[in-house]
Amino acid sequence: MSSFFYKSKNNTREVELYDQEFFLLRDFIFQQTGIYIGDNKKYLLKNRLINRLRELNLNSFEEYYFFLKYDSSKQSELNHLYAVISTNETSFFRNGPQLQVFQKNIIPEILQKKKQQDQNKLRIWSAGCSTGEEPYTLIMMLYEVLGRQIKQWDIKIYANDLSSNVIEKAEQGVYTSYTLRNTPQEYLDKYFAKQQDGKYKVIPELKKYISFSTLNLNNSSQIKQVETSDIIFCRNVIIYFEDKVRIKLINAFYDKLNYGGYLFIGHSESLHNISRVFKPCYYSGAIIYKKEG
Ligand SMILES: C[S@@+](CC[C@H](N)C(=O)[O-])C[C@H]1O[C@@H](n2cnc3c(N)ncnc32)[C@H](O)[C@@H]1O
Repeated sequence: MSSFFYKSKNNTREVELYDQEFFLLRDFIFQQTGIYIGDNKKYLLKNRLINRLRELNLNSFEEYYFFLKYDSSKQSELNHLYAVISTNETSFFRNGPQLQVFQKNIIPEILQKKKQQDQNKLRIWSAGCSTGEEPYTLIMMLYEVLGRQIKQWDIKIYANDLSSNVIEKAEQGVYTSYTLRNTPQEYLDKYFAKQQDGKYKVIPELKKYISFSTLNLNNSSQIKQVETSDIIFCRNVIIYFEDKVRIKLINAFYDKLNYGGYLFIGHSESLHNISRVFKPCYYSGAIIYKKEG
């Protein structure tokens, strides 16, 4: 653990995160992002932010709070804050049973419906996509379903996250073997170029279907800008939100889905006590939520 000391008149002392400062920062983070930092995370927050205080030459967490609120560079400081507070853990082919349902049930059903309606537009939203593994996994699976016919479809996956750091990484599309640990070999061979440094780069053909950008899921006006989708993935994101924020977001997802569309949330997440607007659809190892109609 790094400690940050600054010189006061008589001595050198460690910068503390006092309760009042913690409450100020916690409420600020909550208002901005919907992420709720529990009392038990106070020291985690301190440890994660202390280096940033040092870089900015600030002497207390209160000063940092005012910096975030009023400094002319507050917008870019928010990106630092988001990078520090968010949990970005993800991987390719995360939660296999859900993805099997996506590939074997949901995609065929939606494509069939589109064909009947003489439509070729398919929109998927990967909300809280972190470093991009989820949207790249989805487009690879779509490729497998459609084969060469993919060219006849107008497909776009909107992939976004609060943190600009992770979006930059997603756009680069370069990954270590660790995050690809669940990726079948044939996908590695087909959709990646292995670099000299041992990392894997996503082929450009896949990238053209994905539009990456930053977006705050706690900001209604930003959500309004997102195109209506056929499928929304928001996995392992609402777990960090408080109930009121979850309820608002799930209702927003409902509004942003076409009738007959589906919502995927994380395996350990639930809509129980959050929303009844969706119809739960039960598959082996996965519950997917449908907007009926
Ligand atoms: C644990 S990752 C999940 C990544 C991916 N969906 C998956 O399941 O593997 C959670 C992501 O949610 C993002 N996130 C948290 N709060 C957010 C918000 N208010 N708006 C957008 N993204 C947010 C975080 O930055 C982080 O990258």
